[in-house]
Amino acid sequence: MTVSLETIANLAKRRGFVFQSSEIYGGIRSAYDYGPVGVLMLRNVKDQWWKSMVQCRGDVVGLDSAIIQARAVWKASGHEDAFTDPLVECRNCNARHRLDKLEDPDQCPNCGKRGTFTEPRQFNLMFKTHTGPVESDDNLVYLRPETAQGIFINYENVRRTNRMKLPFGIAQVGKSFRNEITPGQFVFRTREFEQMEMEFFCRPEEAPRWFDYWQEERFRWYTDLGMREENLRIRPHDPDELSHYSAGTVDIEYAFPWGWDELEGIANRTDYDLRAHSEASGEDLRYFDQETNERFFPYVIEPAAGATRTMFAFLIDAYHEEEVNGEQRVVLKLDPRLAPYQVAILPLSKKPELTEPASKIADSLRSEFMLEYDETQSIGRRYRRQDEIGTPLCVTYDFDSIEDHSVTIRHRDTMKQERVSIDRLAEALRDALKN
Ligand code: GAP
Repeated sequence: MTVSLETIANLAKRRGFVFQSSEIYGGIRSAYDYGPVGVLMLRNVKDQWWKSMVQCRGDVVGLDSAIIQARAVWKASGHEDAFTDPLVECRNCNARHRLDKLEDPDQCPNCGKRGTFTEPRQFNLMFKTHTGPVESDDNLVYLRPETAQGIFINYENVRRTNRMKLPFGIAQVGKSFRNEITPGQFVFRTREFEQMEMEFFCRPEEAPRWFDYWQEERFRWYTDLGMREENLRIRPHDPDELSHYSAGTVDIEYAFPWGWDELEGIANRTDYDLRAHSEASGEDLRYFDQETNERFFPYVIEPAAGATRTMFAFLIDAYHEEEVNGEQRVVLKLDPRLAPYQVAILPLSKKPELTEPASKIADSLRSEFMLEYDETQSIGRRYRRQDEIGTPLCVTYDFDSIEDHSVTIRHRDTMKQERVSIDRLAEALRDALKN
């Protein structure tokens, strides 16, 4: 089913996934806060990315570089000159737009007037700030607009300290900042967001093969975590779309409620960055091949995904409305590895003879499962909440449990229920989450 942006945004807010930042002051459109449920899911997205990109491979290591870097980094990388979007302003209503994103480049989508745009000017997307107490051009710094440069400037540190041999990758997850002209579509385009990027260094002649390899790997990552294949596609960039550093880029696109749009970019950055930093810093960042005695700049294939945008796409993809016994049920069919909670423990009612043992069961399982214990409201409402936040398994402790020392496990997708002895509960949950 196709779900509207509004429906997802409402669910996200109602259930504690995502809140508007600074909401009590009227909100700020370009930033969002992740609530108790959202932070768990976002963490799971990032953990799954890390697991597949670092933990399960022998050729990729991790890094966590600073958000504030020397201004020279962004001069050398080309961002200070070229990390821009074309900005036009409507003379009639003063609305500002990104020219390359307008459906009709002559008509203002805000007021509908034609021929009212100013000449386009290139607007740099990097946020500026200053280090130290005095604001001057000498201490101007930027908040990083991509995590990638932190990797390039540490390339030699990582290669040397970890004795890396080509081909190898350096992965990083963290915040990036862009002063987007038109943030919007909920968390899709924000000014503060999180990225999951990996720079894969290889011999120049092997770059085309690794470019194909990473497209397949990354596409599979989404489908393996349950994203529907028909909602994903790979789109090569037109030559005029390419970033200043790229010899070829494809986007993995998702069928968002407003149409196909970028989820992740995979680029062949050539030796652009290492060469640029070598020249600007005076450090020789060439790779020395001991077998051939050659020195050369490795090429780089970069899969670059947005963590917050990916979480958003998984939310949309998992959203289902179903009719059950004449009533509508909203359920997020999230893969258990992404679901905020794996298990909910629900005493049937608020009576102490049920809540006390049920909360003891919850405590005994907390170290193994991310779980929610909930004794508020009717059992029906509590199931509804767990369905809406995608909890795969609910465990109910009822009056029979006192006698038979068993509980009921309810499966989110099938709504099937099974009775399990409390002694065997952890094992049964483990098995159910695997399938
Ligand atoms: N290092 C390459 C790079 O940053 P990008 O295509 O500009 O490439 C990579 O960004 C990913 O980061 C995008 O595919 C998207 O998922 C995410 N991203 C970029 N700008 C974003 C924004 N303003 N808000 C949310 N996510 C964003």
